[in-house]
Amino acid sequence: MNKDARVFVAGHRGLVGSAIVRRLQGAGFNHLLLRTHAELNLRDAAAVDRFFAAERVDYVFLAAAKVGGIRANDAYPADFLRDNLQIQTHVIDAAWRNGVQKLLFLGSSCIYPKLAPQPIREESLLTGPLEPTNEWYAIAKIAGLKLCQAYRRQHGFNAIAAMPTNLYGPGDNFSLLDSHVLPALLRRFHEAKANGAPEVVVWGSGTPRREFLHVDDLAGALLFLMERYADESPVNVGWGEDLTIRELATMVARVVGYAGRLSFDPSKPDGTPRKLLDISRLQGLGWRPQIRLEEGLWQTYAWFLENQASLRS
Ligand SMILES: NC(=O)c1ccc[n+]([C@@H]2O[C@H](COP(=O)([O-])OP(=O)(O)OC[C@H]3O[C@@H](n4cnc5c(N)ncnc54)[C@H](OP(=O)(O)O)[C@@H]3O)[C@@H](O)[C@H]2O)c1
Repeated sequence: MNKDARVFVAGHRGLVGSAIVRRLQGAGFNHLLLRTHAELNLRDAAAVDRFFAAERVDYVFLAAAKVGGIRANDAYPADFLRDNLQIQTHVIDAAWRNGVQKLLFLGSSCIYPKLAPQPIREESLLTGPLEPTNEWYAIAKIAGLKLCQAYRRQHGFNAIAAMPTNLYGPGDNFSLLDSHVLPALLRRFHEAKANGAPEVVVWGSGTPRREFLHVDDLAGALLFLMERYADESPVNVGWGEDLTIRELATMVARVVGYAGRLSFDPSKPDGTPRKLLDISRLQGLGWRPQIRLEEGLWQTYAWFLENQASLRS
């Protein structure tokens, strides 16, 4: 990619979008096109068309989406399906019609069947039922991946799709209502320590296994793929190892310095029993993640402490 290329990062203020901007600026890209949700609502097809017609975009990182944890998916199924279908359809179609050279679409590991063989290979897509708690979002992401494949087949549009595992890092959503498990644990242990609470009760049994990737590692992988990968098959992006929610909670308690009791509430949903991605395709291309979980947690907790006043509520 030419460093003067006009690069649109959709969702640039989100967890992933802000990491992509950091990576691109760090790599010397000096023509980033950034629009806030208020400036450009990607659910507004006409506004998206006007943007692409006016801006002569070369590359697109599609990191804008309606994203949230189990509780939010459960409460707003229609919004998760509709918003993500609209955002990805408008951006992919307008990008192709306005001569964009290459587009990278971001899906998620929840597109794979709930009981897919572990670690999960890209080929297991659409081979079994999805995890019900976030199927609306998953179906939208599968449609997005298929849109990329269809535009490549019918129009030769160079759209690729990355399927990241659970992400964490600076800029994450720490709201207790609709955040993912890792930022929720960081905040809850922090508040328990601050309030001198004797115990923290974690949702679920503590036995599900999860994989986590630092968002700066992801941004590195996405730039790597944008520069070197051009095929219709999706590419998993992960760390390649997982741990139980109990092990994660114990590690978070250590990082935060919480010394009270840790217990679990098995009456709350566990979600998928295990979700570890097979990353051999990406490793085969020569990419390796760098940031170990404990190191990434320290860095993320430091960011949390510095930004408490401006966290997403
Ligand atoms: N977080 C994870 O663990 C994870 C894991 C795997 C894959 N992913 C994928 O990574 C991508 C980014 O996720 P994220 O975690 O970075 O989410 P995020 O932090 O919620 O960021 C999403 C961004 O999209 C923007 N956005 C949402 N709707 C929009 C609209 N209609 N028009 C314009 N902008 C809009 C949001 O702006 P506002 O906040 O102003 O609405 C926000 O800046 C998603 O495709 C997601 O599927 C995330």
